[in-house]
Amino acid sequence: MTIDEFKTYGHKIVDWIAEFYETIEERPVMSQVMPGEVKTRLPSAAPETPESMDRILADFDSIILPGITHWQHPSFFAYFPANGSFPSLLAEMLTAALGAQCMIWQTSPAAAELEEVVMEWLKKGLGLPDAFTGVLQDTASTATLCALVSAREKATGFAGNEKGAAAAGKAAGTLRVYTSAESHSSVEKGAKIAGFGRENVIKIPVDGNFAMIPDKLEEILKRDLAAGYKPACIVAALGSTSSLALDPLGPVGRIAERFGLWFHVDAAMAGSAALLPEKRRILEGVEYADSFVFNPHKWLFTNFDCSAYFVKDPAHLINTFSITPEYLKTSVDGEVKNYRDWGVQLGRRFRALKLWFVLRSFGLEGLREKLRAHIAQAEQFTAWLREDGRFEILAPVNLNLVCFRYIPRSGQSPRTPDSPGVPSEAELETINKKLLDRVNGTGKVFLTHTKLNGKFTLRMCIGQTNTEERHVRQAWELLRDYAGS
Ligand SMILES: Cc1ncc(COP(=O)(O)O)c(C=O)c1O
Repeated sequence: MTIDEFKTYGHKIVDWIAEFYETIEERPVMSQVMPGEVKTRLPSAAPETPESMDRILADFDSIILPGITHWQHPSFFAYFPANGSFPSLLAEMLTAALGAQCMIWQTSPAAAELEEVVMEWLKKGLGLPDAFTGVLQDTASTATLCALVSAREKATGFAGNEKGAAAAGKAAGTLRVYTSAESHSSVEKGAKIAGFGRENVIKIPVDGNFAMIPDKLEEILKRDLAAGYKPACIVAALGSTSSLALDPLGPVGRIAERFGLWFHVDAAMAGSAALLPEKRRILEGVEYADSFVFNPHKWLFTNFDCSAYFVKDPAHLINTFSITPEYLKTSVDGEVKNYRDWGVQLGRRFRALKLWFVLRSFGLEGLREKLRAHIAQAEQFTAWLREDGRFEILAPVNLNLVCFRYIPRSGQSPRTPDSPGVPSEAELETINKKLLDRVNGTGKVFLTHTKLNGKFTLRMCIGQTNTEERHVRQAWELLRDYAGS
């Protein structure tokens, strides 16, 4: 492609992006393709000869686009959001243009220094303790893996790195991780990768609000110590995936401190809410944490991927991950941050740029305004559910996630013989699955589900950048109209 052709298609693609956003609401939120449908439309081998960009773009429109679920659709209410914004998108273009590989300071000094600066901005913005230092990771899963490996090395005096997790565990006692029964699967995955083993991830029971019970944690820790295990790490969920439950960081953190354990806080989505002074109380006790992660790529208008990881002791992180082959040594190593030592990857994308664009372009007040709007929309949606009377709210609405289910009024569904007025759990699951499929099948909204206390639960998570009250109202009206019909 020549530079002139690049200009032509570059302009075309920017126009395409603008039109895509202008018309996104006309597209089905959840892709409607069947399994295998996209693959059957693609050749089984790469072309031997060049193809024109016009053909490639035409195929993008006709083959790829129908197979995309639109995370940037304002009626995307599924999972947790992976939102973005135009400033972030523009920065991503520049990042791609620079193509910088930001593994050490020398490979792009501006990337390293901008990362240091924006992480300080984020730290101040969220009101995280001064003692924390931040680094960008790709995802919260990676950040949690870093925390688990750091915890393993703290517990074994770096014997894990030297002799392997198994040998270190044999000497110190089997290493264990403690986390809420509601914590994200990345904790278990990270523990498997870090060599703890799935059996040694101990799930702590939760209370009626799905938050970890500190007394249970303490009881289990004492039991494990008496049995010869070596507790290494506690992972708190600050905003669990199923219900946005907030583990009590103060009581859990004090236990971690008393038992000398690494304390990691996974605030993947909810962390953004700490930008709001009126919500900052969710961080009470975060000062006990050794590490803390939240994802600007979830609920801070920064395109995937961008995960902010903060640690109290960067030296420990570096000692855990650092390996310095001769070919990566530079004359300024003593004066600068070489982020390759701050995580798993050697090669790193220039993620700080999009965060910088977002923080400057919205300003902290602009970001707060968006977050407040989403929280208010979740409150409004909850109010509609309550007023209707046919829906049960299944978890506290802490921020921007509503967990609920439809319970038909008597006469609208079959009943069990022993309780004729109340549908069985199995019936409720079938009814709510059907409701979910029907509203998603309209293409106008996309919600997902979970199970809470074994109950099939619908989740409405409001966090897409351009969601307005009218989108939430439309979701409510679809649910209201399809429920019982
Ligand atoms: C609470 C929580 N932690 C971690 C993750 C993993 O996030 P990532 O995709 O950035 O690894 C998620 C994903 O939704 C999550 O909800």
